[in-house]
Amino acid sequence: MKRILVTGGSGFIGSHTSINLLQKDYEVVIVDSFINSSRFFYERIKNLAKRIDSNLLRRIILFEGDIRDKNLLEGIFRKSINEGKRIEGVIHFAGLKAVAESLKEPSKYWDFNFIGTFRLIEVMEKYECRTLIFSSSATVYGCSKDFLITESAIVNPINPYGHTKAAVENFLKNIYDSQPDKWRIACLRYFNPIGAHSTGMIGENPNGMPNNIFPFINQVAIGKIERLEIFGNDWETSDGTCIRDYIHVMDLAEGHILSLEFLFENECRFINLNLGTGIGTSVLELVNIFQEVNKVKVPFIYTDRRVGDVARIVADNGFALSILNWKPTKTINEMCKDGWKWQQVKG
Ligand code: NAD
Ligand code: UFG
Repeated sequence: MKRILVTGGSGFIGSHTSINLLQKDYEVVIVDSFINSSRFFYERIKNLAKRIDSNLLRRIILFEGDIRDKNLLEGIFRKSINEGKRIEGVIHFAGLKAVAESLKEPSKYWDFNFIGTFRLIEVMEKYECRTLIFSSSATVYGCSKDFLITESAIVNPINPYGHTKAAVENFLKNIYDSQPDKWRIACLRYFNPIGAHSTGMIGENPNGMPNNIFPFINQVAIGKIERLEIFGNDWETSDGTCIRDYIHVMDLAEGHILSLEFLFENECRFINLNLGTGIGTSVLELVNIFQEVNKVKVPFIYTDRRVGDVARIVADNGFALSILNWKPTKTINEMCKDGWKWQQVKG
């Protein structure tokens, strides 16, 4: 049974991936500072694990702290070695992700996203753990005009958040190139993860005002926010609203497990992989589907375009499909249904 370190494992994608890891017989060591989650949410992850199988609880452990703290990271790796169970791989989610905030506070983003990864790599190298999955983002493609974006599209981010992700990808490539017979690294470029675990016990739980569309729709539907602002209806798309590639967070979680297994089972390598469905949905379609499947109202108005948005971002996911034998299975209806269930459970 392999032990995996999950940085940011109490966050949205990390929590769903951790549950999936436990169900696939991994041991999960989470490190999280709770800057965008909470101990309470971590308890929810444990409750879900317990509900699935109480034995899973023995295989999950939390270290509360910041990955930029090298002593903390070293302590985690050392403790594992002392227990005779070294950490064999890392899934690195911990980072900040709010585009608008990154424009106002770029230094903070370089610190959390770049320095955080830098410290992690230093410690992984020291403890000879050289298998890494990194949470990258489709944001690295910037304003790509490609109908479906492949991994070979130009990397050209347009905001500080995107620059930190692209810089980390480059840094990791340098690390791999320095010892290509030792490192196994996959940078997973997520498109737009939404939805929640089908039990409704965990989901996206941002601290403060949401930044992304889905938690916003949820909070409007439950009455916490009066109405949704749709950023522009004059885009060059069929209904004038932006098109994105929404992917169910459980399909994304599965993509992580398969990527990890792919790295473990194959020769050392460095890969960039798009994780999306390849299907585009407009903002208006998303809102309408959400209202329809959940039988709730989501009042909205059209406002000006948001700075930095692009009309359409949809993945060519062919590479992931072929090398991982992965296939996203959940429809946009299921994403809306599961995401709303979580909001109702959470209140
Ligand atoms: P999230 O904010 O829900 O989860 C991140 C977790 O990391 C949080 O629990 C937070 O408390 C923790 N964290 C942040 N900085 C930390 C630090 N220095 N030390 C320890 N813990 C720290 O975000 P998410 O949606 O789960 O995203 C996970 C990763 O995926 C991020 O790196 C994000 O940039 C990337 N990503 C997310 C999306 C998306 O739309 N959700 C899209 C593309 C890429
Ligand atoms: N949108 C609205 N109103 C809102 C919020 C969003 O109309 O209140 C629209 C946006 O204009 C965009 C779409 O909904 O057209 C999706 O917006 P999100 O903010 O949810 O997501 P983005 O596509 O802008 O970016 C997200 C993540 C990034 C990631 C990127 C990958 O925030 O971290 O997906 O495609 F890099």
